[in-house]
Amino acid sequence: MTPRADFYRTYSAAQVDAIAEALGDRAEFPYELTYLGDGSEMWHRSEVPSGPERAEMLGDFDTLLTRHAERLRALAPSSPVQVVDLGPGTARPVGGLIRHLLDESCLSGYRAIDISAEILGLAGERLREDFPDQAERFEFCRGDFTGPDLARVLPTPEGPGHDDGGPARLVILAGGTLYNFAEPDRVLRHVRRAMSDRDVLVLTLRIDTGVDRPPFMDEVSVGGPYKPQQLAGLDLLGIDRSWYVPETGFDRVRGEVFVRVRFVEPVTVDFGAADGRRAVAFQPGDTVLVWRYLYEDAAAVADRLARGGLRVRLFEHGRDRQVVLVAATPSGEAPEPRVRNP
Ligand SMILES: C[S@@+](CC[C@H](N)C(=O)[O-])C[C@H]1O[C@@H](n2cnc3c(N)ncnc32)[C@H](O)[C@@H]1O
Repeated sequence: MTPRADFYRTYSAAQVDAIAEALGDRAEFPYELTYLGDGSEMWHRSEVPSGPERAEMLGDFDTLLTRHAERLRALAPSSPVQVVDLGPGTARPVGGLIRHLLDESCLSGYRAIDISAEILGLAGERLREDFPDQAERFEFCRGDFTGPDLARVLPTPEGPGHDDGGPARLVILAGGTLYNFAEPDRVLRHVRRAMSDRDVLVLTLRIDTGVDRPPFMDEVSVGGPYKPQQLAGLDLLGIDRSWYVPETGFDRVRGEVFVRVRFVEPVTVDFGAADGRRAVAFQPGDTVLVWRYLYEDAAAVADRLARGGLRVRLFEHGRDRQVVLVAATPSGEAPEPRVRNP
């Protein structure tokens, strides 16, 4: 089988290659690419919570930045500050922080970078609606912040475009985005290298508090739970949902919650790659990972940041204690050399 026509409309040639490589080499669909195309709409819709517990957790993700806006501003050594949002989603969580900084007359600007044009469109729409007089302060950049595109929104202190006397930057990585990557330490070091000593990194995450752990921690749960957008990439490949069964579980070695699919039919996807045809084949019983989330406790989060050359300055729980806001500033220690995740 070949991918659907909208697969090639949704992804650039480089992204098609990255998908073929991830499927072939590590049996994974890169989750960040499910935010493009139809996936953005599914993601947007799923922001509407489906049960009271979920509503509380989503509420925390949306309000933590607002509740601690003044303390975040105070961590920046100068005023005004610039907000640099890495993966803004629909920009819902960052609105209250922007409002606070505007009320205090200390917002120098807001820049967002997202891999998905559709998501950036949603973020722009929301911010222009909420702040109709401030449109000129908002900049939106389509790109991958885990690579060189980061410099377009967060020029490094020694690189072009950085003004040493410019505003301190609040660098936001909200909604657990950092912990979705296969190599969060690599991404963290990349962001840290772009930060000056005056910048503040702000994360919101779901952590392991030892209570209310997901029920599938001990045993893989066949059939879910999963979110429809986690399957959006496979939909675009033309892989019918009846050809596999989703599984949700916990990988003890990596410390990650995951969603993967297990094929019940043989499936071969043919990519018309520039360097000749490339096919990826799966047999019944084979799996493809579609979502991962590092699930670790507060001490492990702080250790990870320390290894990345950052010192925790603020660690606040939401009403649901599993949702936290963490703010960290450069520690003066160089990030530890790269260690690959197991
Ligand atoms: C989990 S959502 C979080 C959205 C928002 N920050 C929030 O807290 O609701 C992840 C966002 O990051 C974007 N994203 C993921 N990986 C990215 C990458 N490598 N480069 C740019 N954007 C990325 C996605 O498109 C999506 O908008």
